[in-house]
Amino acid sequence: MCGIVGAVAQRNVIPVLLEGLKRLEYRGYDSCGIAVFQGAELQRVRSTERVAVLAEQVQSQQLEAVTGIAHTRWATHGAPATHNAHPHFSGHTGHTRIALVHNGIIENHEALRERLTKAGYVFESQTDTEVVAHLIDSLYQGDVLQAVKAACVQLHGAYALAVIAKDEPHRLVGARNGSPLVAGLGEGENFLASDALALAGETSQIIYLEDGDVVDLHLDSVQVYDAQGEPCQREVHTVHLHAGEADLGPYRHYMQKEIFEQPRAVGDTLQGVEVVSPELFGAGAKEVFQNIDQVLILACGTSFYAGLTAKYWIESLAKVPVSVEIASEYRYRDSVPNPRTLVLTISQSGETADTLAALKHARKLGMENTLTICNVASSAMVRESKLAYITRAGVEVGVASTKAFTTQLTALFLLAMVVAQVKGQLSAEQEADLLRKLRHMPVAISAVLALEPQVIAWASRFANKEHALFLGRGMHYPIALEGALKLKEISYIHAEGYPAGELKHGPLALVTQAMPVITIAPHDALLEKLKSNMQEVHARGGELYVFADANTQINSSDTIHVIHMPEHYGLLSPVLHAVTLQLLAYHVACARGTDVDKPRNLAKSVTVE
Ligand code: G6P
Repeated sequence: MCGIVGAVAQRNVIPVLLEGLKRLEYRGYDSCGIAVFQGAELQRVRSTERVAVLAEQVQSQQLEAVTGIAHTRWATHGAPATHNAHPHFSGHTGHTRIALVHNGIIENHEALRERLTKAGYVFESQTDTEVVAHLIDSLYQGDVLQAVKAACVQLHGAYALAVIAKDEPHRLVGARNGSPLVAGLGEGENFLASDALALAGETSQIIYLEDGDVVDLHLDSVQVYDAQGEPCQREVHTVHLHAGEADLGPYRHYMQKEIFEQPRAVGDTLQGVEVVSPELFGAGAKEVFQNIDQVLILACGTSFYAGLTAKYWIESLAKVPVSVEIASEYRYRDSVPNPRTLVLTISQSGETADTLAALKHARKLGMENTLTICNVASSAMVRESKLAYITRAGVEVGVASTKAFTTQLTALFLLAMVVAQVKGQLSAEQEADLLRKLRHMPVAISAVLALEPQVIAWASRFANKEHALFLGRGMHYPIALEGALKLKEISYIHAEGYPAGELKHGPLALVTQAMPVITIAPHDALLEKLKSNMQEVHARGGELYVFADANTQINSSDTIHVIHMPEHYGLLSPVLHAVTLQLLAYHVACARGTDVDKPRNLAKSVTVE
């Protein structure tokens, strides 16, 4: 959510800032901006267009600078407009002294705004960010580090900041509390970014700042100060991201690329899984799994649907009860804590504010058996958890999650097997069979991807629809929910997922020719019941689009359109059906001409409440 890049160097940093913004743009794209030194003054360029347009504006002004900050925004306070775009400036005397970019939300911005207004500051925007710029300016006495440190003490909420001051042209100061920020170390130059990906190609030496840290960057030095304001050493990680990681290659959109990367991503996520062993989830995992008698899954968005699917797997294989909760609900409700609970957070980014807060909330309630399934090893959630499993999806740029979801499912299936093993519920034969099937997933997914031409043929029929219903039963019900989410996120067609058995209790009233009903039809124990549900739709003139496993005997007719899937894949079948629904959402969005990778109003990683 929002992206920050900053640099202090002896060369022109504008290409570094713009390239960094391009790589972070998927995190928020309501507006963007850049602030640099021009001679002795600070100058900024801002735009409500995409970074490519900002880059043209910057080029037309022939800007060159050795120090600067840049930002791409996902609006929270204040509409997406140029005057609300970052960087924000401040200068008490009317002369700009401070430029600042910010990710996160300042919760006490109203009180600070009132105080700073009384002190004579004039606000140009509706943002909480401008408050921070003025606050720092009000505390500035020639040393931007001291001003930022003093300001942070007064800020409540989450923030990552990058700040430059007019009178200190070779200095950049950052601060982190609740929103990710990294320092990148170069030779004779240093960087700040909200994600190391922004710095790929510039440096691989990365410091992940911790909450409460303030960092002071000069050409030849980087000094971190901890929450107490004391100088401290933070570990320097070598991060092997290469600039090409986010390249589109031969694909039309990142989402398409990422859908087609799934065989590789799932295979990588299983790397090193020779045997089913608790240690795959971290040291001490066996003891943790032995000592739990229930699982509480906390997540948001697509990750929540991965959790819902896992409930079916864990209960079926390990016979341990599982509850799955939306993190933003759990964190604020009265719940009944049980210390013998495995608290499982699932997150692509590991930084989603609600999931992180829910995890902290669970810990506060005395539940210390925590596990995170996450795609980012250095993330806050991984650091906050006792155990972790890192999925190896690679960077996911498309806002609609695809490969992150199927790699989460892969890790979750492995978890179900491990817990079943620890609980003595898995025979050696069953274990070997399931592991073999899991290992075969990359091949099975490739076979599903080969159905793309058939999905494309359907997509144009959806292009002029405004509503769609997704039906599934059993462990395919969460996949129906995920299919509906994918379609609404990127095509803007209103879509709902329903358990097919619930159709007659409401949604059947909506069924007309105008609303396609997408049905997931695996060849499982519920098939005949599902066929009855399909008849309920058919009898009311509804149009069915069915993804049917081989041997289901569901055939096409005037109002039933069928794509036949490869053979039924047992407990892992939800993973394969998820892939077809991704393809459907993607091609429908293309047929409607939407901005697939950057759907309106959304962001990749939501690090604010
Ligand atoms: C946002 C993204 C979704 C994602 C959700 C949870 O809404 O657009 O794709 O599923 O956040 O994110 P997480 O990083 O916690 O999985």
